Amino acid sequence: MKELIQKLKETQNLSKEEWISLIENRSVELSDYLFAQAREVRHQYYGKEIYVRGLIEFTNYCKNDCFYCGIRKSNANTTRYRLTKEDILTCCKSGYTLGFRTFVLQGGEDGYFTDSRLCDIVSSIKSSYPDCAITLSVGEKSYESYQALFEAGADRYLLRHETFDSVHYQKLHPSSLTAENRQQCLWHLKEIGYQVGTGFMVGSPYQTSENLADDLLFIKSLNPQMIGIGPFISHRDTPFKDQTSGSLELTLFMLGLLRLMLPKVLLPATTALGTISPNGRELGILAGANVIMPNLSPINIRKNYLLYDNKISTGDEAAESLNSLKRSMADIGYQIVVSRGDSLN
Ligand code: 5AD
Repeated sequence: MKELIQKLKETQNLSKEEWISLIENRSVELSDYLFAQAREVRHQYYGKEIYVRGLIEFTNYCKNDCFYCGIRKSNANTTRYRLTKEDILTCCKSGYTLGFRTFVLQGGEDGYFTDSRLCDIVSSIKSSYPDCAITLSVGEKSYESYQALFEAGADRYLLRHETFDSVHYQKLHPSSLTAENRQQCLWHLKEIGYQVGTGFMVGSPYQTSENLADDLLFIKSLNPQMIGIGPFISHRDTPFKDQTSGSLELTLFMLGLLRLMLPKVLLPATTALGTISPNGRELGILAGANVIMPNLSPINIRKNYLLYDNKISTGDEAAESLNSLKRSMADIGYQIVVSRGDSLN
């Protein structure tokens, strides 16, 4: 199996069969080997720098009903909230002071935030903080909407493809949502000129190693600037409440593979990784990740943006604890930098 990892490192490519074989034959020893190679490749391009993004979860209203997600429309146990434009600008202000130079506006698919409202918010942030990157993560939209938001000043867009395989996709989503449309959105975003992020959940219900291989092949062909992956974690108020959560071990392995497949990609150690294990984020960095996205949302609403059970929002996860995060990263030999952290990919 080490030969396959060497081949991946040298060619940044494997066949579907080779991906499946690596995933199915992984071991502790192989993982350690993979992570060492992933760190070497990452250090070559990004050194020991860790980029941070301030995450603003500005609405938890959502018109979709994804079977895994805690803020799905049918969950009547969620306290719904929306931040105002002023709230959002206040978050950016405190974020800027802390040293953030990227703001990520993430929300459910909330019809209240029309193109004109969102464009107004984006252009206000852009004029107040021209040296910052604005990332949107607000789901599937038309080409025209994406275009308008780009022209208003959005630089980047995060839209996980969730799973490439359409049969698997349909086991995770209602029939109104399709894998095809999701992927089409990503191609549109690229065409418009966004720096694009995609990704998937690891260990989502019914996922096979073949599904994961397809995810890797799709990501290779999309060639995005960012890839967000994290373990699936069940949420008590969803149809998947009794499903087993994804593992730390497989998530780390996938991070290592992604780093070797796309050496220059920006790879976050996600909140879900930090949620399933107290040192998940650090292990993610040591497996090849180089981005952390602390929570910049107003503290009183954080508990309402619960995509999954026990989602962390304090400690190193909180933007206001950046100093503590800096120490955690320094302890493993990495340093957080004040920078937009643009992708080299
Ligand atoms: N477990 C892990 N990740 C989840 N997401 C949504 N629900 C869950 C869950 N239960 C992820 C999806 C989405 C991102 C914002 O959060 O991949 O794209």
